[in-house]
Amino acid sequence: MSREPKRGHFAKEKGEVILREHEYDGIQEYDQKLPNWWLFTFYGAIVFFVGTWVAYYHTDFLKNDQQIIREKIAAIQAAKMVELEKTLATLDDSKLVHRWATDAALVSAGEAIYLTNCSACHAADLSGTMTVGAHKIPLPGLPLDDREWKFGGKPMQIFRLINEGSPPESTGHNGAKMQVWGQTLNPKQIAEVTAYLIAKLPEDFKDIPAN
Ligand code: HEC
Repeated sequence: MSREPKRGHFAKEKGEVILREHEYDGIQEYDQKLPNWWLFTFYGAIVFFVGTWVAYYHTDFLKNDQQIIREKIAAIQAAKMVELEKTLATLDDSKLVHRWATDAALVSAGEAIYLTNCSACHAADLSGTMTVGAHKIPLPGLPLDDREWKFGGKPMQIFRLINEGSPPESTGHNGAKMQVWGQTLNPKQIAEVTAYLIAKLPEDFKDIPAN
């Protein structure tokens, strides 16, 4: 280290070493010209960024993750709608009562769905209450065995209420509403859980002519 490097702003040629003019708290800075291969990767990265940014976010040339996810969700929703349409085409009040609710396999599938998803709010015995010692404590859901139907007691009305959740105009039960179960369960599962509820109801409820 014989001689002091030159002072200046930037190194201008390859191999030149400059000691920059500024100095802060005794800290000094050298400058040397960067090798061209390094500069090419740097400028290349900038060009690549601009290219991908335009291709993904400003044209339809390539799809970004958000577009891919939106399309997949839309496809799933469409497939679910088709499935719902198909199930609805085979369902009516009479079929729910006379075919679904009398089929032991469907009813027991419905019971399993009920115990997993519904009993926390409506109680395993459908009473909508929980017994603790001598007290009956109301649960968030309405009783389903009281023959009172806030949103209509026809089998298909019950099916739709479970599938679509509380109607928008409902103010809820103690402020709580029913969620849209159609987002979690498929139409067949909703028909099964409806069949289970119907099977638990007294005979006069099932007084719907068979077709
Ligand atoms: C988080 C609590 C909760 C869960 C879980 C829940 N419900 Fe409900 N359910 C409610 C509430 C609250 C209402 C009343 C909604 C309202 O008044 O808008 C209701 C209403 C109902 C009704 C209408 C009752 C009537 O009198 O018309 C049916 C049928 C029903 N639920 C079935 C189900 C089924 C089937 C499941 C499971 C797939 C389920 N619920 C899960 C809270 C729940």
